[in-house]
Amino acid sequence: MPDPHAHAHLSKTELLARKNEEALLGGGQARIDAQHKKGKLTARERIDLLLDEGSFEEIGKFVMHRSKDFGLDKEHYLGDGVVTGYGTVNGRLVYVFSQDFTVFGGSLSETHAEKIVKIMDLAMKNGAPVIGLNDSGGARIQEGVVSLGGYADIFYKNTLASGVVPQLSAIMGPCAGGAVYSPAITDFILMVEHTSYMFVTGPNVVKTVTHENVTSEELGGASTHSAKSGVTHFSCANEVVCINHIKQLLSYMPQNCEETAPNQPYEAAGDESRPVLDKLIPENANQPYDMREVIEGIIDEGSFLEVHQNFAENIVVGFARLAGRSIGIVGNQPAVLAGVLDINASTKAARFVRFCDSFNIPLLVLEDVPGFLPGTDQEWRGIITNGAKLLYAFCEATVPRITVITRKAYGGAYDVMNSKHIGADMNYAWPTAEIAVMGAKGAAEIIFKREIAQAENPEAKLQEKVDEYQEKFATPYRAAHRGFVDEVILPSQTRQKLIRAFKMLENKVDTMPRKKHGNIPL
Ligand code: HXC
Repeated sequence: MPDPHAHAHLSKTELLARKNEEALLGGGQARIDAQHKKGKLTARERIDLLLDEGSFEEIGKFVMHRSKDFGLDKEHYLGDGVVTGYGTVNGRLVYVFSQDFTVFGGSLSETHAEKIVKIMDLAMKNGAPVIGLNDSGGARIQEGVVSLGGYADIFYKNTLASGVVPQLSAIMGPCAGGAVYSPAITDFILMVEHTSYMFVTGPNVVKTVTHENVTSEELGGASTHSAKSGVTHFSCANEVVCINHIKQLLSYMPQNCEETAPNQPYEAAGDESRPVLDKLIPENANQPYDMREVIEGIIDEGSFLEVHQNFAENIVVGFARLAGRSIGIVGNQPAVLAGVLDINASTKAARFVRFCDSFNIPLLVLEDVPGFLPGTDQEWRGIITNGAKLLYAFCEATVPRITVITRKAYGGAYDVMNSKHIGADMNYAWPTAEIAVMGAKGAAEIIFKREIAQAENPEAKLQEKVDEYQEKFATPYRAAHRGFVDEVILPSQTRQKLIRAFKMLENKVDTMPRKKHGNIPL
């Protein structure tokens, strides 16, 4: 704790230098060592890793708390547990706050909150992303409601900034109680394996209330939230990986909602055809294949950054580049649950679509979907409301939108997955596409029920009717005759077609009817 009279003998320049040194030490060397011992970096080390060398400009370095209760009048640290400021990542402006666990466990005081709000205001006015590096014991207990007010100020700003500038939250230590709701409102959460956790109530409360024995890691660690709850979009092996992911993510995004993402330099290799795709779809329509192979076969080499990789794996979402342009991809995944849409897949994809639309990132949909997942579990937990989120998200998206139907497009899922009818700009189908109300067997059993029952050989009749339905409807041509599909293309042509179509759509202007805001079925 700095003694106010200790610096009386120093010159003004020396005083400034001394204060700067003090601020850099946060809660002191012993606590820095303890932080390292836990396998964690300090707040400042994280900022150094994140930002371009020498680009960090700190704001509020000498801020101190104003509290007097419970001995706080005798304990002050310059900066008050959070390092805030701005700098560049790959030359582009970002605002950053990094909580300092060495100062009161990174706990959030009134002044700590004010520092965060200050850079968020600057970020919104100047149109640049906000990156939060979270490592905090939660509300500064000694401050009581003042600290809760600070959290609420941040939640409010997070909400105002949502859709204005990208907001990224890395969880690099504890994040518990109501504190979780700031990251939850932001666009992407990244967690570090084994050293971070997030929960509304911790293991002790859980034990008291539900009698469950669970560790912090099981309850709210990175693997839990990346696979079970979907709270985090990325689970990172360590802090360095986490920070590299932040940088990579930013590269696909514009600075704010008024801009488009920067293009990467791209040299056309001449022949853009990808013959490997022509052999990808299995002969048997019930055989799985990996939609990621389709993605890799279409995009610029190595440009795919998958989001929510371990959650709702029956749908794949992520960012990629096509001829250097940033795009968002949503693809059904036939390799998991046959690519069926369920509650988690719908909410995962809906949130991604809304992010892309908020920030002018064009959308590519790769469709192979047998329908929505049947069953009491899904119905009782609200597949109706949750499936509607994805439908709504596509319907309201005004960015360039293109769909490629690789195989199945059945039932309501056909409409939902960015069909022409809900505003897709270009719809392609591969020759293997099957676009119909339902699979041929189910359809034949319903519409030819009486005929089959009365037949001498019902099984042969059923097969005859299945074949008839299959031939008529399990193709892309009915849809193409109507113009619901703009072109039936060979898989190997897909990349070339998409590059041209996205270029053609690059100046697209589309608006929604005037309204206060829509009412997405939450
Ligand atoms: C003030 C805190 C603090 C807090 C930790 N410290 N949390 N000071 N307010 N919330 C201080 C400790 O006193 C200690 O100070 C230093 O930070 C490091 O803490 P340790 O306990 O030694 O560290 P560790 O063993 O790693 O445990 C970390 C921890 C634990 C799990 C986070 O400190 C803890 O349980 N803290 C309390 C968490 C909590 O209940 N927070 C309130 C949640 S409710 P010294 O001087 O020894 O270094 C909440 C509501 C938000 O946040 C509502 C928003 C709407």
